[in-house]
Amino acid sequence: MNRKKIVAGNWKMNSTLDDAIDLVASMKLKSKNFQEIEKIIFPPFPFLKTVADNLITETNFFVGAQNCSEHLKGAYTGEVSVEMLSSVGCQYILVGHSERRHFFNENDGQLILKIQHALNNNLKVIFCFGEQLEERKNATHFETVKQQLENVLKVFSEQQLDKIYLAYEPVWAIGTGETATPEQAQEMHAYVRRIITHLFSNEAAGKIPILYGGSCNAQNAAELFACADVDGGLIGGASLKADDFCKIISSF
Ligand code: PGA
Repeated sequence: MNRKKIVAGNWKMNSTLDDAIDLVASMKLKSKNFQEIEKIIFPPFPFLKTVADNLITETNFFVGAQNCSEHLKGAYTGEVSVEMLSSVGCQYILVGHSERRHFFNENDGQLILKIQHALNNNLKVIFCFGEQLEERKNATHFETVKQQLENVLKVFSEQQLDKIYLAYEPVWAIGTGETATPEQAQEMHAYVRRIITHLFSNEAAGKIPILYGGSCNAQNAAELFACADVDGGLIGGASLKADDFCKIISSF
């Protein structure tokens, strides 16, 4: 199956507007020769419009939001709706990132609402999941991932799944410098495809992109992307440096 190759950059709560503008300018220049790779960056909310405007003429280079409200509009001080995000040029929303699950206690019900709102507003979703260190140590990591996927994806149709990418991010690898080995990543990604077959169909499992995230960097991206079921990466720290991000883009 010939799937899309994707590199997404999650800037988290980093950078200033000036830094964001410089970073995007540099990424545009350095990724020129890799137009066939789908690139998505997730800057903080205040920089989304500027970054989106800067990327509007680029090929295969998109902007997404790191989060959105589970509510559609109204008296929810401090929240940002999918409609707002769409109106400033966002095309993707990150849902289920482990930092949202753990620091902000987001539960499956909230994740479902966020995905529903995103899809209803023509935004695509990168849905993140992954086990904690304890779960890998006591060999319950497959069960954890199965639950995370089933609990949320079961409410969506196969047609809706077309607008969802998956990102396997073992929590023990995020921001720690400890990456999953290519064997560990491949084993889990292949397992995720079996879950998608079970929930939807063989065809859906064959075409859904599955990204790997967790200390993926310019040094280890090539061996991870060489795995049959790894379709790219969701990059945190290394997406804040244009050189590293573009080296990762060139790692397929
Ligand atoms: P990291 O973050 O690459 O810094 O480990 C990945 C992520 O949180 O998406």
